[in-house]
Amino acid sequence: MATILAIESSCDETAVAITRDGNLLANIVSTQIEVHRKYGGVMPEIASRLHAENIGVVLKEALETANIALDDIDAFAVTRGPGLIGALHVGLQAAKTLAMLYKKPLIPVHHLAGHIYANKYVDNFTYPLLAVVVSGGNTELVLMKDDLDFKVIAETRDDAIGECYDKVARVLGLPYPGGIPIDKLAKEGKHSYDLPTPLKGEKTLDFSYSGLKTNVINLVHNLEQKGEKVNVPDMCKSFQDVAVELVIDRTIKASKLYDVKEVILAGGVSANSYLRQRMTEEMNKLNIKINIPPMWCCTDNASMIAKVAEKLYDIKLFAPLNIGVDPNWSIEDWNKF
Ligand code: KG4
Repeated sequence: MATILAIESSCDETAVAITRDGNLLANIVSTQIEVHRKYGGVMPEIASRLHAENIGVVLKEALETANIALDDIDAFAVTRGPGLIGALHVGLQAAKTLAMLYKKPLIPVHHLAGHIYANKYVDNFTYPLLAVVVSGGNTELVLMKDDLDFKVIAETRDDAIGECYDKVARVLGLPYPGGIPIDKLAKEGKHSYDLPTPLKGEKTLDFSYSGLKTNVINLVHNLEQKGEKVNVPDMCKSFQDVAVELVIDRTIKASKLYDVKEVILAGGVSANSYLRQRMTEEMNKLNIKINIPPMWCCTDNASMIAKVAEKLYDIKLFAPLNIGVDPNWSIEDWNKF
């Protein structure tokens, strides 16, 4: 074990975490949500600039919180991808500079591996397991038969589930990021709008969210053209039921097919209260262990990057200082750079 400093800057959170021998000493997250909210989504160029402005402050705060000097760090870990290219560059440049200056190893980490390993703060993994990755940029099922062994068995054919929440929220006049208000309002609504299940009747484990998004948008526009008011809580409930039940359906099918012992929720949408409740109910019925990340570890942060880095430090998977970011890095090729 070691003392690891991890940096995450793949989207709209600038984050630095420090772990020592597996214990989390600092986990500082500076979110840009307020700035992007006025655009209804993340503006990549603004995100990069804010990361560049904030990284030093977040780094300083993490070191102060952990009460550690940079000299005490054994390795510098960083999210290399996937994510926004300019945003990733800021984190990687910071990590490279620190690694070079302090003559310590540089550990590149896959962002989604980070989301999955966030669950290590809850419990150790039992293999084979199915990781259900539901975030703003990704929706996929990842089969793990061992530590750091990732196989993507299903993914979205178009939009990610979080992206769909954000776009539906936008048409309903709700603030970004849309998952939070939709989750809240759905609790007050009834399932009164008829929205079709994506990929109905198809024999596939894949996901699709762009049709569902278009259905909501068309329904809202039709109602507005007729001069009728949209019942926002009802629309949230109707949409959320379809969006979440698709994840539940795929998880049940995949966990039976691959005979998994554990299911893990990962990514920002794993903060969704209905998804957490439904997944727990269904996995309990199947007698499959369910691992859900704590709320503080659902959305982007660097503590999850540090958790993967601890493993990579043990196997000495370090990168040369001339590596670049990879915005489309595959989780199956997390060790190729
Ligand atoms: O994992 P994350 O921070 O970013 C990516 O790595 O993509 O996830 C952000 C996404 C956003 O789309 C946001 O709307 C969604 O997570 N989200 C939620 C909830 N909280 C955040 N979606 C549904 N219900 C929530 N409670």
